[in-house]
Amino acid sequence: MNDMQFSAVTRVNGPLLILAGAGSGKTTVLVNRIANLVKFGNGYHSSMVPEGITPEQIAAGEAFLNGEADFVPNGCFAVSPVHPWQILAITFTNKAAGELKERIAARLGEDANDLWAGTFHSVCGKILRRYGDRLGYTSHFTIYDTDDQRRLMKQIMKEIGEDEKILPHKSVLSAISRAKDQLITPQEYNASAADYRQKKDRAVVYGLSETPVGSRCDGF
Ligand SMILES: Nc1ncnc2c1ncn2[C@@H]1O[C@H](COP(=O)(O)OP(=O)(O)OP(=O)(O)O)[C@@H](O)[C@H]1O
Ligand SMILES: [Mg+2]
Repeated sequence: MNDMQFSAVTRVNGPLLILAGAGSGKTTVLVNRIANLVKFGNGYHSSMVPEGITPEQIAAGEAFLNGEADFVPNGCFAVSPVHPWQILAITFTNKAAGELKERIAARLGEDANDLWAGTFHSVCGKILRRYGDRLGYTSHFTIYDTDDQRRLMKQIMKEIGEDEKILPHKSVLSAISRAKDQLITPQEYNASAADYRQKKDRAVVYGLSETPVGSRCDGF
């Protein structure tokens, strides 16, 4: 690693923004920074000398920091190390997430399994599956992709006899999406529709789309 990379890796407290061009070593910094947090915490900037430290252990620590060794004995130089499960490493594409996870695993070994690493979507899905009960979801929810959403819209429109020409399903889907972004429930959406017919209709579809799968749209 070069000096800038090294200083980013060993900076532990406070926020840090790294801007660098393609292929210039950003992921290298991320991976080493995560490894440094887990293995050493704030050890690099601490002047604490652990009792009974051996020259071999010091050499192993230096080799790890220089990226020449993958592992050092756990806990040797650590000052307030971070638990792997306290780290969230998210990126956008499956490819980038796969590379990130692979490189973290190569660096951290088994500790890497406890890290929250993946795409925005997969990590959020995992959080919902694990803790969604606190929001009233079960852990058995299904995530609808674009096709599933379109099918659901068409089915609901048919059920309530709504004409696709008057209320295109795409416009309903984007209205629902906007409402959800603003945490507006179907009831609130309906209340805000006043006498606006099309909005009222969209509110009905929104409400039905929220009804649990098993009780109304079997076959999805
Ligand atoms: N300081 C360095 N000296 C030499 N090689 C380096 C250095 N930093 C990173 N590399 C190597 O350069 C290559 C690209 O590094 P890395 O994947 O970290 O870059 P990146 O900025 O994340 O790339 P991308 O934009 O494709 O995501 C890797 O093979 C890495 O091992
Ligand atoms: Mg990268």
